[in-house]
Amino acid sequence: MKKILFTGCGGQIGSELLFAFRKEYGNDNIIASDVSPKIKQEILESGPFISLDVTDRQAIANAIDEYKVDAIVHLAGILSAVGEKNPQLAWNVNMNGTVNMFEVAREKGIKRILVPSSIAAFGPDTPHEMTPQRTLLYPTTMYGINKVANELLGSYYNAKYDMDIRGLRYPGIISHKTAPGGGTTDYAVAIYFDAIAKGSYECFLSENTMLPMMYMPDCIKGTFDLFHADKSQLTDATRYNVTAFSVTPKMVADSIKKHIPNFEITYKPDFRQAIADSWTDSMDDHLARQEWGWNPEYDLDKMTEEMLREISLK
Ligand code: SER
Repeated sequence: MKKILFTGCGGQIGSELLFAFRKEYGNDNIIASDVSPKIKQEILESGPFISLDVTDRQAIANAIDEYKVDAIVHLAGILSAVGEKNPQLAWNVNMNGTVNMFEVAREKGIKRILVPSSIAAFGPDTPHEMTPQRTLLYPTTMYGINKVANELLGSYYNAKYDMDIRGLRYPGIISHKTAPGGGTTDYAVAIYFDAIAKGSYECFLSENTMLPMMYMPDCIKGTFDLFHADKSQLTDATRYNVTAFSVTPKMVADSIKKHIPNFEITYKPDFRQAIADSWTDSMDDHLARQEWGWNPEYDLDKMTEEMLREISLK
């Protein structure tokens, strides 16, 4: 692969993953894009950027031709909470955007596409503890429905057109550089910012809501590694469970209190509680560990220390 198109570079993951790829391939060989032209200066300054709407199939085709793209990292998407407020938008971006990517790639002979899935693929009927990779899904959010369809569609294109589409089911991703864009796990980012700014946080999930999470450096490393893994080793390429640790809001608050003893948390669950309750508590990610060496480095306390330090510096 010589030229890789990135979508969704204004987002929480795209704005950091992009730099891992620019470092590896050279700045000019990673084409950043987002639907919004308002993008961080450091992205604009470090290499090519185009404004690209993934629901516009012709615009994708034009970008691929213009930059001679031969692989794609497709991160553009509408997350769970925003998706529940605007399900039609979620369907359009998450479904039509993804099928556009696959179709244009197929027409142009591009094989490798990375498109992440999510714990949102799971639903109330899914076993909630140590959730296996192959299990009952039946998600109840629009975002989750879209993600399951994307996983299946990727497998379909791989089998039918000999493509090389890969994906991992991200848990909540915690980071301090770019805010997450409207998910249910966003509390686990906001809590750190409010701890530093105000010494307190009002949480939109209840105190014992357990969800799997991961710190951004592990997310970057895992995504990068799956993208580059030997294809012959991947037996379930579009849907690897990956997780680092499972926490409740109370556990995150207790971890923060080790550094800010007066930190206070209150709980005021909203519509996102039902979404979180439908998802899994913890995941079995042994297949990712076995097949492409997934091995996260950060646990809750190690992450908390770094999050608080980095946010204090801002
Ligand atoms: N972080 C996402 C969300 O909460 C889950 O993939 O929507």
